[in-house]
Amino acid sequence: MLQIDPLKRPPNAELELAGSKSITNRALLIAALAEGKSTLSRALFAEDTLAMINCLQAFGIDIKHDHTTATIAINGSGGELETPQKELWVRQSGTTARFILPLSALVKAPIEVDGDNQIRSRPQHDLLLALNKLGVEIAHNGEMGHLPLTIDGSNLTVTDIDVSGETSSQYLSALLLVGPCLPEKITLTLDGNAVSTPYIQMTIEIMKAFGAQIDSSKPNSYTVHPTGYVGRDYEIETDASTASYFFAAAAAGKGRVVVNGIGSNSIQGDLEFVEILQQMGAQTLIRPNSVEVTGPTRLDGIDVSMKNISDTAPTLASIAPFASSPVRVTDIGFIQHKESDRVTAVVTELQKLGIDASIEDDGFLIKPGVPTRGIVHSYDDHRIAMAFTVLGLLSEGVAIDEPNCVAKTCPEFFEYVDTLRLEGDEQLDILAIDGPAGSGKSSLAKLLAERLRLEYLDTGAMYRSVAAEALSANVDPKDLHAVAEIANKTDISFEGQQVFVNGNDLTEMIRSAEVNAVVSHVAANPGVRAVLRRAQRSWARQRGGGVLEGRDIGSVVFPRAKLKVYVTATPEERARRRSLESGRSIEEILAEIQGRDEIDSSRADSPLAVSANAIIVDTTGKSLDEVAEEVLRSFNG
Ligand code: DC
Repeated sequence: MLQIDPLKRPPNAELELAGSKSITNRALLIAALAEGKSTLSRALFAEDTLAMINCLQAFGIDIKHDHTTATIAINGSGGELETPQKELWVRQSGTTARFILPLSALVKAPIEVDGDNQIRSRPQHDLLLALNKLGVEIAHNGEMGHLPLTIDGSNLTVTDIDVSGETSSQYLSALLLVGPCLPEKITLTLDGNAVSTPYIQMTIEIMKAFGAQIDSSKPNSYTVHPTGYVGRDYEIETDASTASYFFAAAAAGKGRVVVNGIGSNSIQGDLEFVEILQQMGAQTLIRPNSVEVTGPTRLDGIDVSMKNISDTAPTLASIAPFASSPVRVTDIGFIQHKESDRVTAVVTELQKLGIDASIEDDGFLIKPGVPTRGIVHSYDDHRIAMAFTVLGLLSEGVAIDEPNCVAKTCPEFFEYVDTLRLEGDEQLDILAIDGPAGSGKSSLAKLLAERLRLEYLDTGAMYRSVAAEALSANVDPKDLHAVAEIANKTDISFEGQQVFVNGNDLTEMIRSAEVNAVVSHVAANPGVRAVLRRAQRSWARQRGGGVLEGRDIGSVVFPRAKLKVYVTATPEERARRRSLESGRSIEEILAEIQGRDEIDSSRADSPLAVSANAIIVDTTGKSLDEVAEEVLRSFNG
């Protein structure tokens, strides 16, 4: 469960958010089919894109990804796909499931496609019907029209077909994407009352960027020529659906948010969400490469069709209670087939928080109100979790029961949300104390907390607690994924000098030689750091401040701390102090702390460093009282 700390001040933030999921997954598939190499920049690394990468790798595609630079390098197959050796697993990804089915039909062999329970419940029927018309044989291994399925393209023949767009535009996009690699040209006609049509345009734009020829001059008719694709370097836009949460927070939170990497030439329909905010009274500015939203003093209600941008309907629902008149959303009945039944989900959860919300024929109606405290169920749906986080930023006491589902499209979501709180952090009484092992920062931090009547948080003990849990679960401390999972499940609390981890007193255990030996590796794990950073920030915000001691408090956790102190001492002095405490030899300790300093200072994520505008205090040869006085003068001055 994650308690959402409300904004203390209107946000004022400029954000670099992750790349678009929809564009990343389309570009990945196209680059895999292309002749030659492609490099995708600002690519999204999330559950849904990793699902696509893994499936494409099963077709023999060489894909290398670098999370730190957000780039993916793909060696294109020129349309020559290998037969996957085992079943394709799409996890929970709708785009992967839909796009991989026609791709599988390009291979002349039966291919099994399956995924998590959630995706098994989502419909594929209209896409399978279209594939059938192309001579593709389909075996339904579970419920008719759903995954798991076996696709056999041995008898694929190109013929012009109709494709229904009533449930999802992804069916047409999926077929369009493989079009250039078919032996002949194909004309696809979009049938029925199609939804989310901007995504079709997005598909076409990306296809064209990789050399495809598509004639879409007649309404609802798309002729794709058998040109193949040509690999290239391609920059992905920031995700407009993810950006919607931040625009909404600015609009309803009377603040200002700028999102970079998306702008006037965007191919993402979801950017239209800012127009809705504008109609509700927000000021919006769409520049070539950034979008800015500034909230009004009074947000108006609205009556709006969200047929084209339904992924942002939960976002609008999350700020609807704060509008001065009702918000009605229409034409979105089809979103009951998304990761959850989204109309029911938003209405049910808003009602739980005391808001007058109701399901209508083809959408929902939400009346103004003040949300009460409560725990929101996320339905394992990233968009429900993210939307209600926005609501939690704007009212007191909201928690999300399973926040980790945001990893489907935005693993760093809560980190981004924290940047909205930076303005409020300036109001907190935070004393940030950083420094290397044995510098004397713990004794100093405790003494200062006492003198300032603030609570004290030993963040090193938190990293140690995760290390101890990893050791007792027999998990390799260098296994990034497994240790991050452990961090997610570790509940750490302090009572005086005692440290309780998942209810057990681990005060001694976390200072053991075994933990000392591995803790720096655990602390270098970005997944662990993200979880603990979130907990540390929340701890201080709920208390109005505190003395926090660690390695990155001033630089990363609270860059706007009231005072930042970097405590240091010579390595020999530090070893001497630790030796006095433990009785071990100075030489042994010197080697150990130098080893740990090296790992702590050289890691990629939040390395130990003197942060900007920190005061540096060298404790060598000084008494604790002298040092404390020095710091207090700065804190009070
Ligand atoms: O302060 P300590 O020795 O108890 O810290 C234990 C480890 O955790 C050490 O390797 C540094 C790391 N750490 C960190 O990386 N960031 C923090 N904020 C606190 C500690």
